[in-house]
Amino acid sequence: MPDESSERESGDDTESALEARLAAGETYEPPASFVEQANVSDPGIYDDFEENWPDCWEQAADLVSWFDEYDTVLEDEDAPFYRWFTGGTLNASYNCLDRHVEDGAKNRAAIKWEGELGETRTYTYGDLLNEVEAFAAALQELGVEEDDVVTLYMPMIPELPIAMLACARIGAPHSVVFAGFSADALATRMNAAESEYLVTCDGYYRRGDPLNHKEKADKGLRGVDHDVETVVVDRLGDELEHFLGANAHDYDELVSDHAGASVEPVERDAEDMLFLMYTSGTTGQPKGVKHTTGGYLSYAAWTSHAVLDVKPEDTYWCAADIGWITGHSYIVYGPLTLGTTTMMYEGTPDYPDKDRLWELIETNTVDIFYTAPTAIRAFMKWGTGYPDAHDLSSLRLLGTVGEPINPRAWTWYYEHIGGESCPVVDTWWQTETGGMMITTLPGIGEMKPGSAGPPLPGIDAKIVDAAGEEVGAGNAGYLTVQNPWPGMLRTLYNNDDRFLNEYWQEYSDPDADEWVYFPEDGAKIDEDGSITVLGRVDDVINVSGHRLGTMEIESAIVGVEGVAEAAVVGGDHEVKGQAVYAYVILEDGQEATDGMHDRIVEGVEDSIGPIARPEEVLFTPELPKTRSGKIMRRLLEDIASGEELGDTSTLRNPEIVEEIADQVGEN
Ligand code: WTA
Repeated sequence: MPDESSERESGDDTESALEARLAAGETYEPPASFVEQANVSDPGIYDDFEENWPDCWEQAADLVSWFDEYDTVLEDEDAPFYRWFTGGTLNASYNCLDRHVEDGAKNRAAIKWEGELGETRTYTYGDLLNEVEAFAAALQELGVEEDDVVTLYMPMIPELPIAMLACARIGAPHSVVFAGFSADALATRMNAAESEYLVTCDGYYRRGDPLNHKEKADKGLRGVDHDVETVVVDRLGDELEHFLGANAHDYDELVSDHAGASVEPVERDAEDMLFLMYTSGTTGQPKGVKHTTGGYLSYAAWTSHAVLDVKPEDTYWCAADIGWITGHSYIVYGPLTLGTTTMMYEGTPDYPDKDRLWELIETNTVDIFYTAPTAIRAFMKWGTGYPDAHDLSSLRLLGTVGEPINPRAWTWYYEHIGGESCPVVDTWWQTETGGMMITTLPGIGEMKPGSAGPPLPGIDAKIVDAAGEEVGAGNAGYLTVQNPWPGMLRTLYNNDDRFLNEYWQEYSDPDADEWVYFPEDGAKIDEDGSITVLGRVDDVINVSGHRLGTMEIESAIVGVEGVAEAAVVGGDHEVKGQAVYAYVILEDGQEATDGMHDRIVEGVEDSIGPIARPEEVLFTPELPKTRSGKIMRRLLEDIASGEELGDTSTLRNPEIVEEIADQVGEN
């Protein structure tokens, strides 16, 4: 059973204060001025969707243009391999670009980009279409065919969404690998997807310094077990020399060679794959989440419309990285399908100073801002002086995603960024769900800080106990989704069995053809139907809103010479939400030196990336184990979080717990 104490608090706010706030059920009404203009403001939508399910999802499909209309909204014969909008054909790049140009929006800004050093680029819908067509033609010339997986390993530069849309145009699914991931992580994903094409760049800026990215990409390519054709974007110009080896091509040259090219958007079946996104799971092997063209695009557009209230005339900013699902759905596909102006920022929020984001909101008169709780907790630490120094009155709506938000951070965001006049949507969803699932609709619902809100219309989320029975209000249990939705993953790439095991085994009844999706999160529900998500119940941790598998980190550590065994857990962290704690047993004769510590940290960075860097490495002669030999992770989590230790009586070696806890106290 998920433990409510896993709710994360920051600062000196105590658990009891949090409980008191939650218990008091303090709610906030959306301002009337917002409701008046909201895309969705009729509370009848909840009943309407329930009564007309699954046909209600036509409303989502109506937000995209189809070449051939679909025949059936939902086909469930092969459940849980559901199929949405079958018979329909469409193209995601056509929906994000051509149709807006055809509608007269050629000169509207599609992407407003700002580099870390302050340089800016604006792509109108017309510009974006031209460059996407040129690059699509180049990809075709390099040999990319429909259904070939193209890997994109790039930071937050405009060429990343351009490459995504170029792939979508020619029906080649993309697999974006977060630029902060290591060379090894890139190789693993390219091998798993049998991807023979890579688009990357020479480097990018981080805190003012040029960072060599190509070195990492080249190293990754050496771990790929087949030939790869590579395209390199020259982001840094003279700042960083780079050389193109065999099978490598310069992006600018390719685009200028194909300038003016016209590439017809291919007609993709609704169920054809739009992209793959690798995400962490319980085992060491990342999962290749498959999203389709019709259902995913409709769902990204629908949730952008209904929850983020995006309108074509807005300047909208999701400050995530496109390397994660949030960036796919809510920087690229959702907002561009709706024809709005989407912002992209290359760098960190505290460079050159801690008001960078507020400055960007002011100068671009941003209407909607969507970020992660970890960022909000950092802003809180930096103080109100930074946002107060800027005019943020252009903002109409705020959102958060990625991890639970504690009520204190929620109210800070509401007061200091939103000026108490913007609704805040706390959106729960996952890589697998494609788009938002649980959140208030900002034009309708009351907001309760700390609680994501009710499931969206048409989404049947329920909190159940271990036996699958619904738990009563106020009790913690497991979050489940009891009906399918258009944005859902269709399978794990090349691994239908794992798809069934990971998501559909726990609470479904295959004999009765009843399928229940299990997202592996714990949650509780209030009397009013509002859901508070408590966090993962599997071996996945959430560090600064980034999802990491503890098994992946453990196998990286065990790969370091001299290490015998490792256990990795998440411990509470004021800003990151959770941080990586590694408990390590060395081989006989090895010493717990600083050098060993550094090699372990390096091992993790090499195999995954700096985001997985352990906060602490604790050397121990043993791990706390049950009599049957299972590692007691809960105890290790308690130690990491500085919590009172739970029951140790079932342990084979209870004395080790105190020993480790003392060590943490000393560090
Ligand atoms: C967590 C990110 C609480 C959750 C879009 C989920 C949240 C995991 C929230 C997915 C939220 C995301 N409140 N927890 N509003 N949003 N999570 O796949 O544990 O990177 O399962 O997708 O993040 O992370 P992923």
